[in-house]
Amino acid sequence: MQAFQLEIHSDPVALVARGVDLWREWLRVSVADHGYFNVVLAGGSTPKQLYEALAKTSDLSWDRVRLFWGDERYVPSDHPDSNYRMVKEALLNHVNIPADHIFPFPTSSSDPKLDAQNYSAQLKELFQEEWPTFDLVLLGVGTDGHTASLFPETAALTVQDQWTAVGNKDGDPRLTLTFPALNRAHQVVFLVTGASKASIVEELLTSDPHLPAQGIQPMGRLLWFLDAAAAQSLPLKGLLAN
Ligand code: 6PG
Repeated sequence: MQAFQLEIHSDPVALVARGVDLWREWLRVSVADHGYFNVVLAGGSTPKQLYEALAKTSDLSWDRVRLFWGDERYVPSDHPDSNYRMVKEALLNHVNIPADHIFPFPTSSSDPKLDAQNYSAQLKELFQEEWPTFDLVLLGVGTDGHTASLFPETAALTVQDQWTAVGNKDGDPRLTLTFPALNRAHQVVFLVTGASKASIVEELLTSDPHLPAQGIQPMGRLLWFLDAAAAQSLPLKGLLAN
């Protein structure tokens, strides 16, 4: 299993504050290096708290930030379940990010596979590379070990030659970046809080790979940001460098 950096914060507020600091640092470094800060956003309640905190900052230059989504529910962009809508309400409505720097999954063709392919084509046009390169990928995890919309025992887990795939949550289609696309990241940060995640966090960080979130093995750094509640089941002696 790839080495990872583990940070345990006292509570979600402290975790989110650390996330804002790292966003600020990696934005500066990325823009200095190649003129943009290319970030893949996650859905979910924990990542949402980071977006809300970012919306309250006043010192971040949003004009060089480009936002992508790691996954999307297959609903209209104004649907209550939409990850795009969640980010719009938590962040986009509060910061001056150029509209042409915002790249949500399309969900309007009524054909999830076509929309996933269209997103892939859009990213390929933008990145002009065989594979994308993201400066930061934010991810959450579900209690079943899923991340993005890569759910256990689904076909999307096996896609290695495409940037996007159609995920499946209990029969509902989801659009998702694939493992190879998500792993094309200089940094991946899992944002996980709450006692309900303690068991899956322990399994993900201590067992042999068998769950989707363990398939995230980025080309760059892998970081886990946990609050104390989500970290409570970890055998820390075994995890910390000897
Ligand atoms: C989504 C996310 C999903 C989420 C996890 C964690 O569309 O909901 O892509 O992978 O990040 O389920 O969500 P919570 O932080 O709300 O538990």
